[in-house]
Amino acid sequence: MNISATNNLEAFWMPFTANRQFKKNPRMFVSADRMHYTTSDGRQVMDATSGLWCVNAGHNRPRIVEAIRQQAGELDYAPAFQMGHPKAFELASKLVAMSPTGLDHVMFTNSGSESVETALKTAIAYHRAKGDGSRFRLIGRERGYHGVNFGGISVGGIVPNRKMFGTLLTGVDHLPHTHDLQRNAFTRGIPEHGAELANELERIIGLHDASTIAAVIVEPVAGSTGVLVPPKGYLQKLREICDKHGILLIFDEVITGYGRLGAPFAADYFGVVPDIMITAKGLTNGVIPMGAVFVKNEIHDAFMTGPEHVIEFFHGYTYSGNPMASAAGIATMETYQEEGLLTRGAELAGYFEDGLHSLKDLPHVIDIRNIGIVGAVELEPIAGEPTRRAFQAFLDAYDKGLLIRTTGDIIALSPPLIVEKSDIDFIIDTLGGVLKALD
Ligand SMILES: Cc1ncc(COP(=O)(O)O)c(C=O)c1O
Repeated sequence: MNISATNNLEAFWMPFTANRQFKKNPRMFVSADRMHYTTSDGRQVMDATSGLWCVNAGHNRPRIVEAIRQQAGELDYAPAFQMGHPKAFELASKLVAMSPTGLDHVMFTNSGSESVETALKTAIAYHRAKGDGSRFRLIGRERGYHGVNFGGISVGGIVPNRKMFGTLLTGVDHLPHTHDLQRNAFTRGIPEHGAELANELERIIGLHDASTIAAVIVEPVAGSTGVLVPPKGYLQKLREICDKHGILLIFDEVITGYGRLGAPFAADYFGVVPDIMITAKGLTNGVIPMGAVFVKNEIHDAFMTGPEHVIEFFHGYTYSGNPMASAAGIATMETYQEEGLLTRGAELAGYFEDGLHSLKDLPHVIDIRNIGIVGAVELEPIAGEPTRRAFQAFLDAYDKGLLIRTTGDIIALSPPLIVEKSDIDFIIDTLGGVLKALD
């Protein structure tokens, strides 16, 4: 083994990245502060994506940095199984205090993907714990993103994330997605048309029978597929149908959680409370990997039976509630609370919306949509070369000092919740310039 090997770009097989393209012309960040990254060639790049939808309080926040520093010197690690440490309990208590009513128990994980697996396993196990073990089916949705593990890609609906990986989980079905360009293009906020798509759940239930279905999982606002805002009344309808049939409703709030929509959670924004709520990303401001899965009391309580010395739920991770992550999570919640960030998006949403929709008449733009502090500009793909046009926009924006995210031919924007109006102006002006110059 050559431990003095020189640094090279080949060793790291990068995730969800065009590796060969990147390594020919790398884009490297070396530091970050508040709204900006600094590149290895010394340029400032505005972060219009909160990293990967996670740095909701902006970068290099002193309270979070200090909490991690202190925790590292105080208690670096404690076993997650059969032992505890105070910060994990403190964070869990803080989280349930701010969560929608009834979601009073939290399990910790290390990512959105692990949170998804935790939620799906909990749903199936809950029915079994209640003596209803025939409920094993899981219903996801087309275009859904629920991370990259097997459960998540099975209920997910993004084709490239699924097609390479064999048969996936059995017993899974999918609702149709809600993207309807013909009826809803250029909607500001919640689209008018499509609530009836929730009725497809009744069709799926008719096919499989409710007695076989454990849970329905959706992102309240689908993020990674390109920001699909649910039609008016859609989530309410899903909730009603699940209740009618004894099916659990799971919200994957990995993106929508912690203020993205201008409310603490999408459940608050839409007034629809799920039975299980999946979060990650903004939980620690993206600084230390961590996820949290909130469950309703009755789900938790269904497991709290049998002899007290026996483990109630055979699930968890070495790093569940890790001290460093817990410290970061507590400091993040304090930062959000001190600065009012979980609701700040509501104040800025109108300005952000106006800015985004001012791009409407630029070349290739076929839709613009938004909610809270998240939005998308959908471009007409180049014939026969899907994704090329938006990827070019991403590269051009980066050259002009703006970090955007693209998925397919859709540009997604989700700046940190500390964003100022002048930052929004910069984002819109720069993106406008990029779009005007695109082929
Ligand atoms: C809705 C949703 N669920 C799950 C995940 C997976 O999270 P992670 O990448 O932390 O595993 C993501 C990531 O973007 C997400 O947007």
